[in-house]
Amino acid sequence: MKIIMLGAPGAGKGTQAKMIAKEYGVPHISTGDIFRANIKNGTELGMEAKKYMDQGLLVPDELTVRILLDRVAQEDCKDGYVLDGFPRTIPQAEVLDQALAKLGDRIDYAINVDVPDENIIRRMSGRRACLTCGATYHIEHVPPKQEGICDTCGSALVLRDDDKPETVKNRLEVYHRQTQPLIDFYGKKGVLRTVDGTRPMEEVFAAIRAILA
Ligand code: AP5
Repeated sequence: MKIIMLGAPGAGKGTQAKMIAKEYGVPHISTGDIFRANIKNGTELGMEAKKYMDQGLLVPDELTVRILLDRVAQEDCKDGYVLDGFPRTIPQAEVLDQALAKLGDRIDYAINVDVPDENIIRRMSGRRACLTCGATYHIEHVPPKQEGICDTCGSALVLRDDDKPETVKNRLEVYHRQTQPLIDFYGKKGVLRTVDGTRPMEEVFAAIRAILA
């Protein structure tokens, strides 16, 4: 099963992708997490990606596509995966389609987690992230057991640099301009499904489970 998560920054793509990965036993692949891990480790890729991410801009397609195609070629992806944050532009979607077509394959579902912009700004300021293991919390909706500490690995939780309100505004603009056209792109292919991302996370997941059943 090959699934793409679509939706604005902070719509809950990562939250739902992790739940899908756990329930269906497929890897959760987040290009944002891959970039953040590289930034944390001070790699060349991380330094390059950071220049764009800190401004709320997209990392260039060329770099992103290479990383993603390498990742999905790994052994653990042979029975499927859930992509979170990729594709984010029409050229990225086309490259993915072509790579899959060469294998006689295709995307099964593109799940659009729909949340209006007003809700997004509120959510992002409350998000806390673990840059060590990728876990995500929210100070109101999903607080960690101990304030500021990751339940999973015990590392300190942070407000992501790109979750500051000014950067979130840029990310939303970039989303509407460059990523939202993918909703039409996958709609035309007949694989688009939309869920109401303003509902509590368990309800959103129940809607996704009904789609994947
Ligand atoms: P990325 O990490 O992909 O960021 P994003 O798409 O902006 O998505 P987020 O991780 O911010 O949000 P999310 O939708 O996963 O929400 P979450 O589940 O955490 O990318 C970061 C940057 O990397 C990009 O800006 C770009 O620069 C670069 N990049 C990445 N991929 C790229 C690509 N393909 N091409 C080019 N550049 C790329 O939820 C948000 C918060 O809300 C959390 O606190 C959560 O607990 C809470 N929450 C979730 N669901 C609910 C709910 N139902 N009710 C209440 N609260 C909820």
